[in-house]
Amino acid sequence: MNVIELLGLPPLEEQLRLLEPLLTESVVTGDGFLDGVTTHLIAAGGKRLRPVLALATSTGGDRPASREDLLGAVAVELVHLASLYHDDVMDEATIRRNVESVNSRFGNLVAIVAGDFLLARSAEIAAGLGTEIAALLAATLGELCRGQVAEVHAAFQVTRSTESYTQAIAGKTASLMATSCRIGAITGGLPRPQVEAFTTFGRCFGMLFQVRDDILDIVGSEAELGKPAGQDLAEGIYTLPVLLALADPESGPELRPLLGQPLSQPERDKARSIVEASGAIAGSVAVGRTYAEQAAEAAGSCPSPQLATAFARLAHSLLDGLPVG
Ligand code: IPE
Ligand code: IPE
Ligand code: MG
Ligand code: MG
Repeated sequence: MNVIELLGLPPLEEQLRLLEPLLTESVVTGDGFLDGVTTHLIAAGGKRLRPVLALATSTGGDRPASREDLLGAVAVELVHLASLYHDDVMDEATIRRNVESVNSRFGNLVAIVAGDFLLARSAEIAAGLGTEIAALLAATLGELCRGQVAEVHAAFQVTRSTESYTQAIAGKTASLMATSCRIGAITGGLPRPQVEAFTTFGRCFGMLFQVRDDILDIVGSEAELGKPAGQDLAEGIYTLPVLLALADPESGPELRPLLGQPLSQPERDKARSIVEASGAIAGSVAVGRTYAEQAAEAAGSCPSPQLATAFARLAHSLLDGLPVG
């Protein structure tokens, strides 16, 4: 997925080019081992989605980014990176961004403390951008942790409600997407109603993004995703497609007895194929479409028609290629 291409805002290419050295500099200390750990996933790439949201919001994709705009974008990517370091420990993941995950390469202890180090760097940068941004990023980190804890707490619960799912993803994913847009709107000096509208866009976009990620965990492959597929079922994280398949009178009775406990590989494959063959994927895509429409509507109130169109296109394009049943 090339986010800038999907947005259709070529000036963002140059802004991202300026972001890369700032991102690396922000974590390098001169300690060779620590630097190797903290730059491991930065060097591996990633979509840079959150910095792109921040920069597109602050600059509208048509004026050069200021140093503040760029630092805001660095701060949100650092929080995201830290969340990946910690999430991969929680998930016992082995691959991230197409390379060996930090926990697998350096061990859990190093991954946890290096993730904390990235958060510390982000906080330091945010402090330099003013109290509003510093407080916003701290509150967002709290929301992210709340979502992750809620998800772990609901693990292996076949009675998990869709509200439990919605609450968890609002915290773990949508909050940082909302904050990425909000920080961009603040560094870009946008009027308050715009700040609110872009925050709403980011929140709806983030919900859509996580619903899509959860669909891909069922229907995608490791080669496509750059991370293992089927991980959520293995960890007992019952996401929207699984919850809809459980509620379905046809697939539910077949799926339910498999869940509620750790699965062997053949059981996991069976559970995935039950969910995949049910109406739950199309049902999840429909939920994603509702978030895409809400995101597009929020972006629609932006005075730049170019940016409103770009954000709406990006949101809807996340659903492209997903099976609709
Ligand atoms: C992964 O986010 C974590 C989720 C919220 C699903 P991304 O898919 O944006 O990860 P990178 O930055 O491209 O690696
Ligand atoms: C996103 O959820 C986790 C974070 C917000 C860090 P996932 O657990 O679904 O992310 P992936 O699939 O491992 O990238
Ligand atoms: Mg994960
Ligand atoms: Mg996932």
